[in-house]
Amino acid sequence: MPDALSPLSLRGVTSPNRIAVSPMCQYSCAPDGLPTEWHRVHLGSRAVGGAGIVMTEATAVDPIGRITPSDLGIWSDDHAAALEPITDFVRNQGAVPGIQLAHAGHKASKKRPWEGNVPIQPDNGGWEVLSPSPEAYPPFDGDRPAMRKADGDDIQNVIDAYRDAAERSLAAGFEIAEVHAAHGYLFHEFLSPVTNRRADDYGGSFENRTRLLRDVVTAVREVWPNDQPVFVRISGTDGLNDRESWDIDQSVRLADDLAGLGVDLVDVSSGGIHPEQAISGGPNFQVPLAERVRDGADVAVGAVGGVTEPEQADALVRNGRADLVLVGREFLRDPYFGLRAAGDLEGDSDTVTERWPVQYR
Ligand code: FNR
Repeated sequence: MPDALSPLSLRGVTSPNRIAVSPMCQYSCAPDGLPTEWHRVHLGSRAVGGAGIVMTEATAVDPIGRITPSDLGIWSDDHAAALEPITDFVRNQGAVPGIQLAHAGHKASKKRPWEGNVPIQPDNGGWEVLSPSPEAYPPFDGDRPAMRKADGDDIQNVIDAYRDAAERSLAAGFEIAEVHAAHGYLFHEFLSPVTNRRADDYGGSFENRTRLLRDVVTAVREVWPNDQPVFVRISGTDGLNDRESWDIDQSVRLADDLAGLGVDLVDVSSGGIHPEQAISGGPNFQVPLAERVRDGADVAVGAVGGVTEPEQADALVRNGRADLVLVGREFLRDPYFGLRAAGDLEGDSDTVTERWPVQYR
């Protein structure tokens, strides 16, 4: 039975352990989506700190898919070239570089969290955002954004943007591509009946609501090498039990469909679609969702949410509840969480072992 320190091999890529840095927006680009010194140091330190996989923040495939004007992007070759030194460094530290490919849909064009997280209008430095159904935009804080209902051309553009972004990510040296389909952003907006009121091929039935994500995953798989894994992050549930919404049964079914399209790991988060969601945090708060997907679908599963202790991550893997544990906030508090976990779990916390960078021994 593997544990948190066991390698994880997916296709031809092997993570040295099962602890990954969860994607976390840094909102720290100049308004051009290019990485800065912040990204180099932020991602680089967590690779030094023993994470098996270092996943970038939500990285926009198209400028209109940025949550804020300060988001990271991968919509041009210049972006790929600027990211390459970061992936090189991460790999040289023994970690696997992954990129989360994102489109924020109707939750794009917002102020940064520390500036209020409210929509920015086009006449004030923002832009018109894409929505499956603008009439269903939920009552988030701030004025409604300027929205356009995604038409056939918009949908084709999204698919093409993902394919191009995957090709650029490969050129930049990433070894894992993760499609972000969680947290109320574009694909989740199509998946959930809360935000999808369409009557065309992309709305209504489960098959129609999942079509855009399936088309995008197919496009990414076309260009992503056979020996490298594709991940998809989903919200396992909307957390809205009082209305028709996206739930865990649909997530299990989707995960199986995605596996059939060549997805190697489904990373199970939750919520983000509507402000009235009933989701409470705490230790392992989303693990039951990951476990349901792992039990019901034939795909590897990542668990995330409320993992702060090495023993906790270890138990998730040992008990077969997840194949990979993604750690977010604890990796912000302690960039060396991976090394600390290895030390604690192997009982040599007080010793600087060969796991540590040679400079620190
Ligand atoms: C996040 N999260 C997140 N999720 C995602 O899929 N893409 C992203 O870009 C971000 N951005 C982000 C920024 C910051 C500052 C935080 C704290 C979180 C969610 C994150 O990946 C993770 O799923 C949650 O934080 C829950 O895990 P922890 O923090 O309890 O380990």
